[in-house]
Amino acid sequence: MTDDVTPAAAAKPQAAATGAAGAVPPIIEVRNVVQEYEQPSGKALRVLDDISLRFERPAINMLLGPSGCGKSTLMKMLGGVRPWNVKTPTTGSVFIEGKVCDAQHEDTIMVFQQYNNRPDLTVRENVAYPFRFKEWARRISKAESSKRVDDMLQEVGLADKHDQYPSQLSGGQNQRVALARALVTQPKILLMDEPFGALDAQTRADMQGLLIRLHRAHPCVVIFVTHDVSEALTLGDRVIVLSTQPAKVIDDFAIQEAHPRNVQWLERAEVRALSDRVVGHLRQSGVRGQVRVSV
Ligand SMILES: Nc1ncnc2c1ncn2[C@@H]1O[C@H](COP(=O)(O)OP(=O)(O)O)[C@@H](O)[C@H]1O
Ligand SMILES: [Mg+2]
Repeated sequence: MTDDVTPAAAAKPQAAATGAAGAVPPIIEVRNVVQEYEQPSGKALRVLDDISLRFERPAINMLLGPSGCGKSTLMKMLGGVRPWNVKTPTTGSVFIEGKVCDAQHEDTIMVFQQYNNRPDLTVRENVAYPFRFKEWARRISKAESSKRVDDMLQEVGLADKHDQYPSQLSGGQNQRVALARALVTQPKILLMDEPFGALDAQTRADMQGLLIRLHRAHPCVVIFVTHDVSEALTLGDRVIVLSTQPAKVIDDFAIQEAHPRNVQWLERAEVRALSDRVVGHLRQSGVRGQVRVSV
């Protein structure tokens, strides 16, 4: 359901997709996607159930849903990462700028909780890593890639650590390296699967601020999976909630409040109502015990 609700001050409805002939295609379109996995019993396990979503312009889109509902399945599908033995998607399609996405796309980057920094490379070498590949040598000059790496190290606050190794850095600093490596290629699409999930509260808040600043400097479509409702409301230009498996889109709303959004904003009555609404969806979807709302 694309939405309509929400307090005027906090949220407005998503713009309806035009679909008009000749219109610019959305950056990402997920059209009637179903994903099933075969279980050992031979029975099909349906994970994604007729998901349709459009991402029309650079923005930070937050994706929530109960554990195991299929968020990472959807993210991998958008990143063109295909399990070798499973047809993905089972039915339906993903389009990037109007073209079917069936393999990794050069303008799409994924960031995970585990950073995936190379332990044998320095901070600078890790950030510069994408430029080792031939396709980048064709796209930009050595001087340009070197400048981009230097600028990005400044932006994420790691210029003074450029010659250190990942083992010498904190978790937050390692995640900065991962984010810098992702953005140095200036991707159109940045897929972040619970990137800050393992960080302590202060580091997480710092990283949220950094993401907002980086996104302003390098606009792209961010899709960001989180379990934390406050994180979704703090960062999201749009919030999408999936139901329990098989996952359907059960809520989808936009938030127009400018960034950065502070704790006072999160405590406003209409924003608390939004938080309660998302928590309600997650509880209804069978999330037991604590649903994290870390104001
Ligand atoms: N390659 C795969 N083969 C079989 N089952 C899978 C595969 N990948 C994910 N699953 C199953 O799909 C469901 C959704 O997984 P996932 O997308 O990782 O959920 P989430 O990220 O929302 O926690 C889980 O039940 C998981 O076991
Ligand atoms: Mg996951």
